[in-house]
Amino acid sequence: MAESQTTSQTRRSTRTGVDLLLQLRGSGTRAGLTEALRDAVRSGHLPAGSRLPASRALANDLGIARSTVTECYSLLLEEGWLTARHGSGTFVAERVQQHRVKEVPAPRREPSHGLGPGAADYADFPRSTWLAAARRAFAAAPHSAFGYGDPLGRMETRVAIADYLARVRGVYADPGRIVLSSGYQHGLGVVARALKNQGHESVAVESYGLDIYRGVLGDAELRIPPLEVDEEGAQVQRLHRLDGNRAVLLTPAHQFPTGHALSPERRAMVLDWARSAGGLILEDDYDGEFRYDRKPIGALQGLDPDRVVYFGTASKSIAPALRLGWIVVPDRLLGAVADAKGRVDTVSVLDQLIFTEFVTSGAFDSHIRSRRQSYRRRRTQLVDAVQSRASGIRVIGMQAGLQAVLILPAGTEAWVLQAAARRGLLVSGLSAFRHPGAERDGRWSDGLVVNFSAVSDSAWPGALEELVRVLP
Ligand SMILES: Cc1ncc(COP(=O)(O)O)c(C=O)c1O
Repeated sequence: MAESQTTSQTRRSTRTGVDLLLQLRGSGTRAGLTEALRDAVRSGHLPAGSRLPASRALANDLGIARSTVTECYSLLLEEGWLTARHGSGTFVAERVQQHRVKEVPAPRREPSHGLGPGAADYADFPRSTWLAAARRAFAAAPHSAFGYGDPLGRMETRVAIADYLARVRGVYADPGRIVLSSGYQHGLGVVARALKNQGHESVAVESYGLDIYRGVLGDAELRIPPLEVDEEGAQVQRLHRLDGNRAVLLTPAHQFPTGHALSPERRAMVLDWARSAGGLILEDDYDGEFRYDRKPIGALQGLDPDRVVYFGTASKSIAPALRLGWIVVPDRLLGAVADAKGRVDTVSVLDQLIFTEFVTSGAFDSHIRSRRQSYRRRRTQLVDAVQSRASGIRVIGMQAGLQAVLILPAGTEAWVLQAAARRGLLVSGLSAFRHPGAERDGRWSDGLVVNFSAVSDSAWPGALEELVRVLP
Protein backbone atom coordinates (compact mmCIF):
# COMPACT_ATOMS: atom_id res chain seq x y z
CA MET A 1 0.00 0.00 0.00
CA ALA A 2 1.38 3.42 -0.92
CA GLU A 3 2.40 5.43 2.13
CA SER A 4 0.42 8.40 0.85
CA GLN A 5 -2.92 6.58 0.68
CA THR A 6 -5.56 7.36 3.24
CA THR A 7 -6.47 4.18 5.05
CA SER A 8 -9.17 3.22 7.47
CA GLN A 9 -9.27 -0.48 7.96
CA THR A 10 -9.30 -3.15 10.54
CA ARG A 11 -6.61 -5.80 10.34
CA ARG A 12 -6.30 -8.78 12.56
CA SER A 13 -2.94 -10.24 13.35
CA THR A 14 -3.24 -13.82 14.51
CA ARG A 15 -0.09 -15.70 13.58
CA THR A 16 1.88 -13.83 16.17
CA GLY A 17 0.29 -15.44 19.17
CA VAL A 18 -1.36 -12.28 20.43
CA ASP A 19 -4.64 -11.69 18.64
CA LEU A 20 -4.33 -8.04 17.81
CA LEU A 21 -7.13 -6.09 16.17
CA LEU A 22 -5.68 -2.89 14.81
CA GLN A 23 -7.61 0.00 13.33
CA LEU A 24 -5.20 1.40 10.75
CA ARG A 25 -6.20 4.93 9.90
CA GLY A 26 -4.57 8.17 8.92
CA SER A 27 -2.66 9.21 5.88
CA GLY A 28 0.16 6.67 5.82
CA THR A 29 0.95 3.15 6.93
CA ARG A 30 3.65 4.15 9.42
CA ALA A 31 1.54 6.90 10.98
CA GLY A 32 -1.54 4.68 10.88
CA LEU A 33 0.15 1.76 12.58
CA THR A 34 1.76 3.98 15.24
CA GLU A 35 -1.60 5.53 16.11
CA ALA A 36 -3.33 2.15 16.07
CA LEU A 37 -0.77 0.75 18.54
CA ARG A 38 -1.11 3.80 20.80
CA ASP A 39 -4.89 3.33 20.74
CA ALA A 40 -4.55 -0.36 21.56
CA VAL A 41 -2.35 0.44 24.57
CA ARG A 42 -4.46 3.40 25.72
CA SER A 43 -7.69 1.44 25.60
CA GLY A 44 -6.24 -1.59 27.34
CA HIS A 45 -6.62 -3.89 24.35
CA LEU A 46 -2.87 -4.36 24.71
CA PRO A 47 -2.48 -4.60 28.52
CA ALA A 48 0.57 -3.22 30.37
CA GLY A 49 3.38 -5.77 30.36
CA SER A 50 2.05 -7.68 27.36
CA ARG A 51 4.40 -8.75 24.64
CA LEU A 52 4.10 -7.32 21.16
CA PRO A 53 4.34 -9.48 18.08
CA ALA A 54 7.81 -9.77 16.55
CA SER A 55 8.24 -7.09 13.89
CA ARG A 56 8.62 -9.63 11.08
CA ALA A 57 5.44 -11.52 12.08
CA LEU A 58 3.37 -8.36 12.43
CA ALA A 59 4.63 -7.06 9.09
CA ASN A 60 3.66 -10.36 7.45
CA ASP A 61 0.22 -10.36 8.98
CA LEU A 62 -0.51 -6.79 8.00
CA GLY A 63 1.07 -7.10 4.57
CA ILE A 64 3.44 -4.17 5.13
CA ALA A 65 7.22 -3.70 5.15
CA ARG A 66 9.07 -4.96 8.21
CA SER A 67 10.98 -1.66 8.37
CA THR A 68 7.66 0.17 8.85
CA VAL A 69 6.95 -1.94 11.93
CA THR A 70 10.44 -1.50 13.40
CA GLU A 71 10.24 2.26 12.87
CA CYS A 72 6.89 2.36 14.70
CA TYR A 73 8.24 0.28 17.56
CA SER A 74 11.31 2.56 17.88
CA LEU A 75 9.17 5.68 17.99
CA LEU A 76 6.86 4.20 20.63
CA LEU A 77 9.90 3.07 22.64
CA GLU A 78 11.21 6.63 22.59
CA GLU A 79 7.82 7.99 23.60
CA GLY A 80 7.67 5.56 26.53
CA TRP A 81 4.70 3.49 25.40
CA LEU A 82 6.84 0.41 24.95
CA THR A 83 9.92 -1.11 26.55
CA ALA A 84 12.42 -3.49 25.03
CA ARG A 85 13.88 -6.39 26.99
CA HIS A 86 17.05 -7.53 25.43
CA GLY A 87 16.68 -10.90 23.79
CA SER A 88 13.05 -11.39 24.75
CA GLY A 89 11.13 -8.82 22.67
CA THR A 90 9.10 -5.65 22.91
CA PHE A 91 6.52 -5.11 25.66
CA VAL A 92 3.87 -2.57 26.61
CA ALA A 93 5.40 -0.32 29.29
CA GLU A 94 4.16 -1.04 32.82
CA ARG A 95 3.53 2.57 33.77
CA VAL A 96 1.26 3.74 30.93
CA GLN A 97 -2.13 4.97 31.97
CA GLN A 98 -4.75 2.71 30.50
CA HIS A 99 -8.46 3.31 30.15
CA ARG A 100 -10.35 0.08 29.96
CA VAL A 101 -12.90 0.01 27.19
CA LYS A 102 -16.29 0.73 28.66
CA GLU A 103 -18.67 -2.17 28.89
CA VAL A 104 -20.96 -2.06 25.89
CA PRO A 105 -24.49 -1.66 27.25
CA ALA A 106 -26.69 -4.69 26.73
CA PRO A 107 -28.82 -4.34 23.60
CA ARG A 108 -32.43 -3.34 24.17
CA ARG A 109 -34.64 -6.30 24.76
CA GLU A 110 -35.77 -7.79 21.49
CA PRO A 111 -39.43 -8.67 21.34
CA SER A 112 -39.77 -12.28 22.41
CA HIS A 113 -42.73 -12.82 20.12
CA GLY A 114 -42.79 -11.13 16.75
CA LEU A 115 -46.22 -11.29 15.13
CA GLY A 116 -45.60 -8.30 12.88
CA PRO A 117 -46.37 -8.12 9.17
CA GLY A 118 -44.01 -9.44 6.53
CA ALA A 119 -42.23 -11.95 8.76
CA ALA A 120 -42.60 -15.70 8.39
CA ASP A 121 -41.57 -18.78 10.31
CA TYR A 122 -38.06 -18.96 8.95
CA ALA A 123 -37.40 -22.17 10.87
CA ASP A 124 -39.77 -23.72 8.37
CA PHE A 125 -37.59 -22.98 5.34
CA PRO A 126 -37.48 -26.27 3.39
CA ARG A 127 -33.72 -26.65 3.75
CA SER A 128 -33.32 -30.28 2.80
CA THR A 129 -35.67 -30.33 -0.20
CA TRP A 130 -34.23 -27.00 -1.40
CA LEU A 131 -30.71 -28.42 -1.17
CA ALA A 132 -31.76 -31.61 -2.94
CA ALA A 133 -33.34 -29.50 -5.70
CA ALA A 134 -30.10 -27.48 -5.95
CA ARG A 135 -28.05 -30.64 -6.33
CA ARG A 136 -30.29 -31.99 -9.09
CA ALA A 137 -30.57 -28.62 -10.84
CA PHE A 138 -26.81 -28.00 -10.91
CA ALA A 139 -26.06 -31.52 -12.08
CA ALA A 140 -28.46 -31.17 -15.00
CA ALA A 141 -27.76 -27.55 -15.99
CA PRO A 142 -25.83 -26.92 -19.20
CA HIS A 143 -22.56 -24.97 -18.84
CA SER A 144 -24.22 -22.01 -20.51
CA ALA A 145 -26.60 -21.66 -17.57
CA PHE A 146 -23.79 -20.26 -15.44
CA GLY A 147 -23.45 -17.11 -17.52
CA TYR A 148 -25.48 -13.92 -17.46
CA GLY A 149 -29.23 -14.44 -17.56
CA ASP A 150 -32.11 -13.06 -19.57
CA PRO A 151 -33.37 -9.89 -17.80
CA LEU A 152 -36.92 -11.25 -18.09
CA GLY A 153 -35.92 -14.58 -16.52
CA ARG A 154 -34.89 -18.04 -17.77
CA MET A 155 -37.46 -19.52 -20.10
CA GLU A 156 -37.73 -22.85 -18.25
CA THR A 157 -38.40 -20.96 -15.02
CA ARG A 158 -41.11 -18.92 -16.70
CA VAL A 159 -42.64 -22.11 -18.13
CA ALA A 160 -42.65 -23.72 -14.67
CA ILE A 161 -44.30 -20.62 -13.18
CA ALA A 162 -46.88 -20.46 -15.99
CA ASP A 163 -47.89 -24.10 -15.42
CA TYR A 164 -48.02 -23.64 -11.68
CA LEU A 165 -50.12 -20.45 -11.86
CA ALA A 166 -52.57 -21.98 -14.33
CA ARG A 167 -53.00 -25.02 -12.12
CA VAL A 168 -53.17 -23.37 -8.71
CA ARG A 169 -54.49 -19.84 -9.31
CA GLY A 170 -56.37 -20.07 -12.61
CA VAL A 171 -53.99 -17.53 -14.12
CA TYR A 172 -53.71 -17.46 -17.89
CA ALA A 173 -49.98 -17.22 -18.32
CA ASP A 174 -48.17 -17.50 -21.58
CA PRO A 175 -44.54 -17.94 -20.39
CA GLY A 176 -43.48 -15.26 -22.88
CA ARG A 177 -45.53 -12.76 -20.88
CA ILE A 178 -43.96 -13.59 -17.54
CA VAL A 179 -41.25 -11.30 -16.20
CA LEU A 180 -39.23 -12.29 -13.15
CA SER A 181 -38.48 -9.66 -10.52
CA SER A 182 -36.62 -9.51 -7.23
CA GLY A 183 -39.87 -9.87 -5.32
CA TYR A 184 -43.15 -7.99 -5.56
CA GLN A 185 -41.83 -4.66 -4.32
CA HIS A 186 -39.27 -4.57 -7.11
CA GLY A 187 -41.83 -5.76 -9.67
CA LEU A 188 -44.32 -3.10 -8.63
CA GLY A 189 -41.63 -0.44 -9.08
CA VAL A 190 -40.89 -1.73 -12.58
CA VAL A 191 -44.57 -1.68 -13.58
CA ALA A 192 -45.07 1.74 -11.97
CA ARG A 193 -42.27 3.19 -14.11
CA ALA A 194 -43.73 1.50 -17.19
CA LEU A 195 -47.14 3.04 -16.47
CA LYS A 196 -45.64 6.47 -15.90
CA ASN A 197 -43.78 6.15 -19.21
CA GLN A 198 -47.08 5.25 -20.86
CA GLY A 199 -48.69 8.46 -19.64
CA HIS A 200 -50.42 7.30 -16.44
CA GLU A 201 -50.55 9.97 -13.75
CA SER A 202 -52.13 7.95 -10.94
CA VAL A 203 -52.89 4.47 -9.61
CA ALA A 204 -55.83 4.10 -7.22
CA VAL A 205 -55.01 2.03 -4.14
CA GLU A 206 -56.93 0.40 -1.30
CA SER A 207 -57.44 2.58 1.77
CA TYR A 208 -55.58 -0.07 3.81
CA GLY A 209 -52.21 -1.38 2.69
CA LEU A 210 -48.50 -1.23 3.31
CA ASP A 211 -47.03 2.24 3.06
CA ILE A 212 -43.91 0.89 1.30
CA TYR A 213 -45.99 0.01 -1.74
CA ARG A 214 -47.72 3.39 -1.76
CA GLY A 215 -44.19 4.80 -1.57
CA VAL A 216 -43.07 2.71 -4.58
CA LEU A 217 -45.88 4.24 -6.67
CA GLY A 218 -45.06 7.69 -5.34
CA ASP A 219 -41.39 7.18 -6.31
CA ALA A 220 -42.57 6.73 -9.90
CA GLU A 221 -44.36 10.09 -9.54
CA LEU A 222 -47.81 8.51 -9.62
CA ARG A 223 -50.61 9.87 -7.46
CA ILE A 224 -52.37 7.29 -5.27
CA PRO A 225 -56.05 8.16 -4.69
CA PRO A 226 -57.51 5.85 -2.00
CA LEU A 227 -60.50 3.54 -2.44
CA GLU A 228 -62.34 2.76 0.78
CA VAL A 229 -62.28 -0.89 1.88
CA ASP A 230 -65.14 -2.81 3.55
CA GLU A 231 -66.26 -6.42 4.04
CA GLU A 232 -66.53 -6.87 0.27
CA GLY A 233 -63.03 -5.60 -0.38
CA ALA A 234 -62.18 -2.32 -2.10
CA GLN A 235 -65.09 -0.12 -3.16
CA VAL A 236 -64.22 -0.36 -6.83
CA GLN A 237 -67.56 1.23 -7.75
CA ARG A 238 -65.86 4.53 -6.91
CA LEU A 239 -63.30 4.15 -9.68
CA HIS A 240 -65.60 5.90 -12.16
CA ARG A 241 -65.41 9.03 -10.02
CA LEU A 242 -61.63 9.30 -10.17
CA ASP A 243 -61.13 11.55 -13.16
CA GLY A 244 -58.16 10.67 -15.32
CA ASN A 245 -57.26 7.60 -13.24
CA ARG A 246 -56.84 4.49 -15.40
CA ALA A 247 -55.19 2.00 -13.07
CA VAL A 248 -55.93 0.39 -9.71
CA LEU A 249 -53.79 -1.73 -7.38
CA LEU A 250 -55.79 -4.41 -5.54
CA THR A 251 -55.30 -7.46 -3.32
CA PRO A 252 -58.48 -9.17 -4.58
CA ALA A 253 -58.05 -12.67 -3.13
CA HIS A 254 -57.26 -11.45 0.38
CA GLN A 255 -57.27 -7.74 1.07
CA PHE A 256 -54.10 -6.76 2.88
CA PRO A 257 -54.38 -6.40 5.80
CA THR A 258 -58.15 -6.49 6.50
CA GLY A 259 -58.43 -9.93 4.92
CA HIS A 260 -61.71 -9.86 2.98
CA ALA A 261 -61.89 -11.15 -0.59
CA LEU A 262 -63.20 -8.86 -3.28
CA SER A 263 -66.84 -9.93 -3.62
CA PRO A 264 -68.02 -11.54 -6.89
CA GLU A 265 -70.09 -8.41 -7.68
CA ARG A 266 -67.09 -6.17 -7.25
CA ARG A 267 -64.85 -8.47 -9.25
CA ALA A 268 -67.32 -8.12 -12.13
CA MET A 269 -67.57 -4.38 -11.51
CA VAL A 270 -63.84 -3.72 -11.65
CA LEU A 271 -63.46 -5.76 -14.85
CA ASP A 272 -66.34 -3.78 -16.41
CA TRP A 273 -64.65 -0.56 -15.38
CA ALA A 274 -61.33 -1.69 -16.90
CA ARG A 275 -63.03 -2.56 -20.19
CA SER A 276 -65.11 0.59 -20.45
CA ALA A 277 -62.49 3.06 -19.21
CA GLY A 278 -59.48 1.41 -20.88
CA GLY A 279 -58.24 0.75 -17.36
CA LEU A 280 -55.66 -1.60 -15.94
CA ILE A 281 -55.90 -3.70 -12.77
CA LEU A 282 -52.70 -4.48 -10.86
CA GLU A 283 -53.39 -7.68 -8.91
CA ASP A 284 -51.16 -8.39 -5.90
CA ASP A 285 -51.73 -12.11 -5.21
CA TYR A 286 -49.22 -12.17 -2.36
CA ASP A 287 -50.62 -15.14 -0.43
CA GLY A 288 -52.80 -16.84 -3.04
CA GLU A 289 -51.44 -20.28 -2.07
CA PHE A 290 -52.83 -20.03 1.43
CA ARG A 291 -56.58 -20.26 1.06
CA TYR A 292 -58.56 -22.30 3.56
CA ASP A 293 -62.02 -22.15 1.99
CA ARG A 294 -63.38 -25.21 0.19
CA LYS A 295 -63.62 -23.49 -3.16
CA PRO A 296 -60.55 -21.31 -3.37
CA ILE A 297 -61.02 -17.98 -5.10
CA GLY A 298 -58.92 -17.87 -8.25
CA ALA A 299 -57.00 -14.89 -9.50
CA LEU A 300 -58.81 -12.04 -11.23
CA GLN A 301 -56.27 -12.20 -14.03
CA GLY A 302 -57.77 -15.44 -15.39
CA LEU A 303 -60.99 -13.55 -16.19
CA ASP A 304 -59.32 -10.92 -18.37
CA PRO A 305 -55.59 -11.39 -18.98
CA ASP A 306 -55.48 -8.29 -21.18
CA ARG A 307 -56.69 -5.97 -18.42
CA VAL A 308 -54.79 -7.37 -15.46
CA VAL A 309 -51.13 -7.26 -14.48
CA TYR A 310 -50.69 -10.17 -12.08
CA PHE A 311 -48.00 -10.18 -9.35
CA GLY A 312 -46.91 -13.26 -7.41
CA THR A 313 -44.05 -13.76 -4.98
CA ALA A 314 -42.09 -16.54 -3.30
CA SER A 315 -41.82 -14.44 -0.12
CA LYS A 316 -44.83 -16.00 1.63
CA SER A 317 -44.64 -19.47 0.13
CA ILE A 318 -40.88 -20.07 0.49
CA ALA A 319 -38.95 -17.16 2.01
CA PRO A 320 -38.46 -13.43 1.46
CA ALA A 321 -34.69 -14.01 1.31
CA LEU A 322 -35.10 -15.60 -2.09
CA ARG A 323 -36.13 -12.20 -3.51
CA LEU A 324 -38.14 -13.83 -6.26
CA GLY A 325 -41.36 -12.60 -7.76
CA TRP A 326 -43.17 -12.93 -11.08
CA ILE A 327 -45.28 -10.55 -13.09
CA VAL A 328 -47.73 -11.73 -15.75
CA VAL A 329 -48.05 -8.83 -18.13
CA PRO A 330 -50.71 -8.13 -20.81
CA ASP A 331 -49.24 -8.29 -24.31
CA ARG A 332 -49.60 -4.60 -25.03
CA LEU A 333 -47.60 -3.66 -21.91
CA LEU A 334 -44.79 -6.18 -22.27
CA GLY A 335 -42.42 -3.90 -24.17
CA ALA A 336 -42.92 -1.04 -21.72
CA VAL A 337 -42.35 -3.34 -18.73
CA ALA A 338 -39.22 -4.87 -20.30
CA ASP A 339 -37.89 -1.35 -20.98
CA ALA A 340 -38.61 -0.22 -17.44
CA LYS A 341 -36.90 -3.30 -16.03
CA GLY A 342 -33.82 -2.64 -18.10
CA ARG A 343 -31.00 -4.94 -19.03
CA VAL A 344 -30.18 -6.20 -15.56
CA ASP A 345 -30.83 -9.86 -14.79
CA THR A 346 -32.02 -9.09 -11.26
CA VAL A 347 -32.75 -12.64 -10.16
CA SER A 348 -29.77 -14.95 -9.65
CA VAL A 349 -29.77 -17.56 -12.40
CA LEU A 350 -28.68 -20.18 -9.87
CA ASP A 351 -31.75 -19.47 -7.75
CA GLN A 352 -33.92 -19.67 -10.86
CA LEU A 353 -32.48 -23.11 -11.66
CA ILE A 354 -33.15 -24.35 -8.14
CA PHE A 355 -36.62 -22.84 -8.01
CA THR A 356 -37.55 -24.42 -11.33
CA GLU A 357 -36.48 -27.84 -10.08
CA PHE A 358 -38.24 -27.21 -6.76
CA VAL A 359 -41.51 -26.46 -8.56
CA THR A 360 -41.39 -29.08 -11.30
CA SER A 361 -40.39 -31.90 -8.92
CA GLY A 362 -43.47 -31.32 -6.77
CA ALA A 363 -41.44 -30.23 -3.71
CA PHE A 364 -43.06 -26.77 -3.83
CA ASP A 365 -46.57 -28.27 -3.67
CA SER A 366 -45.72 -30.50 -0.70
CA HIS A 367 -44.07 -27.63 1.11
CA ILE A 368 -47.14 -25.45 0.64
CA ARG A 369 -49.45 -28.28 1.71
CA SER A 370 -47.61 -28.76 4.97
CA ARG A 371 -47.44 -25.03 5.67
CA ARG A 372 -51.11 -24.62 4.89
CA GLN A 373 -51.98 -27.30 7.45
CA SER A 374 -49.88 -25.62 10.09
CA TYR A 375 -51.35 -22.15 9.41
CA ARG A 376 -54.88 -23.53 9.32
CA ARG A 377 -54.29 -24.99 12.80
CA ARG A 378 -52.93 -21.72 14.12
CA ARG A 379 -55.80 -19.78 12.62
CA THR A 380 -58.32 -22.00 14.45
CA GLN A 381 -56.34 -21.71 17.68
CA LEU A 382 -56.28 -17.92 17.35
CA VAL A 383 -60.04 -17.69 16.85
CA ASP A 384 -60.73 -20.12 19.72
CA ALA A 385 -58.40 -18.29 22.10
CA VAL A 386 -59.89 -14.88 21.31
CA GLN A 387 -63.46 -16.18 21.58
CA SER A 388 -62.87 -17.84 24.93
CA ARG A 389 -60.68 -15.15 26.53
CA ALA A 390 -61.79 -11.88 24.91
CA SER A 391 -65.25 -12.60 23.60
CA GLY A 392 -66.07 -8.98 22.75
CA ILE A 393 -63.41 -8.92 20.06
CA ARG A 394 -64.15 -9.81 16.48
CA VAL A 395 -61.60 -11.61 14.30
CA ILE A 396 -61.88 -10.79 10.60
CA GLY A 397 -60.22 -11.83 7.35
CA MET A 398 -59.65 -15.49 8.12
CA GLN A 399 -60.56 -17.24 4.86
CA ALA A 400 -57.01 -17.10 3.65
CA GLY A 401 -53.52 -16.00 4.27
CA LEU A 402 -51.14 -15.61 7.12
CA GLN A 403 -52.62 -12.73 9.06
CA ALA A 404 -55.85 -11.87 10.82
CA VAL A 405 -57.26 -8.65 12.18
CA LEU A 406 -58.69 -8.37 15.68
CA ILE A 407 -61.17 -5.51 15.79
CA LEU A 408 -60.72 -3.66 19.09
CA PRO A 409 -63.13 -1.36 20.92
CA ALA A 410 -62.73 2.20 19.59
CA GLY A 411 -59.94 4.15 21.25
CA THR A 412 -58.05 1.14 22.67
CA GLU A 413 -55.49 0.38 19.93
CA ALA A 414 -52.66 2.55 21.29
CA TRP A 415 -52.75 1.16 24.80
CA VAL A 416 -53.11 -2.44 23.62
CA LEU A 417 -49.99 -1.94 21.51
CA GLN A 418 -48.16 -0.48 24.51
CA ALA A 419 -49.24 -3.34 26.74
CA ALA A 420 -48.13 -5.81 24.05
CA ALA A 421 -44.72 -4.14 23.75
CA ARG A 422 -44.24 -4.32 27.52
CA ARG A 423 -44.80 -8.07 27.31
CA GLY A 424 -42.28 -8.41 24.49
CA LEU A 425 -44.99 -8.95 21.87
CA LEU A 426 -44.60 -7.27 18.51
CA VAL A 427 -47.90 -6.72 16.69
CA SER A 428 -49.09 -3.91 14.45
CA GLY A 429 -52.01 -1.60 14.90
CA LEU A 430 -54.52 -1.55 12.05
CA SER A 431 -54.32 2.24 11.86
CA ALA A 432 -50.66 1.99 10.76
CA PHE A 433 -51.89 0.56 7.44
CA ARG A 434 -54.40 3.31 6.76
CA HIS A 435 -53.82 5.46 3.68
CA PRO A 436 -52.99 8.94 5.00
CA GLY A 437 -55.37 10.51 2.47
CA ALA A 438 -58.34 8.25 3.31
CA GLU A 439 -61.28 9.68 5.22
CA ARG A 440 -61.92 8.09 8.59
CA ASP A 441 -65.34 6.53 8.24
CA GLY A 442 -65.18 4.68 11.54
CA ARG A 443 -65.82 1.20 10.12
CA TRP A 444 -62.69 -0.24 11.61
CA SER A 445 -61.14 2.42 13.73
CA ASP A 446 -58.96 0.30 16.02
CA GLY A 447 -57.50 -3.13 15.47
CA LEU A 448 -54.53 -5.42 15.70
CA VAL A 449 -52.98 -7.07 12.67
CA VAL A 450 -51.69 -10.45 13.81
CA ASN A 451 -49.34 -12.33 11.53
CA PHE A 452 -49.81 -15.83 12.88
CA SER A 453 -47.19 -17.28 10.52
CA ALA A 454 -44.31 -15.31 11.96
CA VAL A 455 -43.17 -17.60 14.77
CA SER A 456 -42.13 -21.22 14.95
CA ASP A 457 -44.55 -23.98 15.95
CA SER A 458 -42.90 -24.19 19.35
CA ALA A 459 -43.11 -20.42 19.98
CA TRP A 460 -46.69 -20.04 18.77
CA PRO A 461 -48.57 -21.18 21.93
CA GLY A 462 -46.53 -18.72 24.05
CA ALA A 463 -47.11 -15.89 21.60
CA LEU A 464 -50.83 -16.60 21.52
CA GLU A 465 -51.02 -16.64 25.31
CA GLU A 466 -49.30 -13.24 25.52
CA LEU A 467 -51.61 -11.91 22.84
CA VAL A 468 -54.86 -12.82 24.56
CA ARG A 469 -53.55 -11.41 27.83
CA VAL A 470 -53.24 -7.91 26.41
CA LEU A 471 -56.69 -7.86 24.81
CA PRO A 472 -59.27 -5.65 26.53
C1 LIG B 1 -49.45 -7.11 0.60
C2 LIG B 1 -48.15 -7.75 0.25
N1 LIG B 1 -47.82 -7.92 -1.03
C3 LIG B 1 -46.66 -8.50 -1.41
C4 LIG B 1 -45.76 -8.92 -0.47
C5 LIG B 1 -44.47 -9.56 -0.92
O1 LIG B 1 -43.51 -8.62 -1.21
P1 LIG B 1 -42.06 -9.10 -1.69
O2 LIG B 1 -42.25 -10.10 -2.78
O3 LIG B 1 -41.39 -7.84 -2.16
O4 LIG B 1 -41.38 -9.71 -0.50
C6 LIG B 1 -46.03 -8.76 0.88
C7 LIG B 1 -45.03 -9.19 1.87
O5 LIG B 1 -45.11 -8.94 3.04
C8 LIG B 1 -47.25 -8.16 1.25
O6 LIG B 1 -47.56 -7.98 2.54
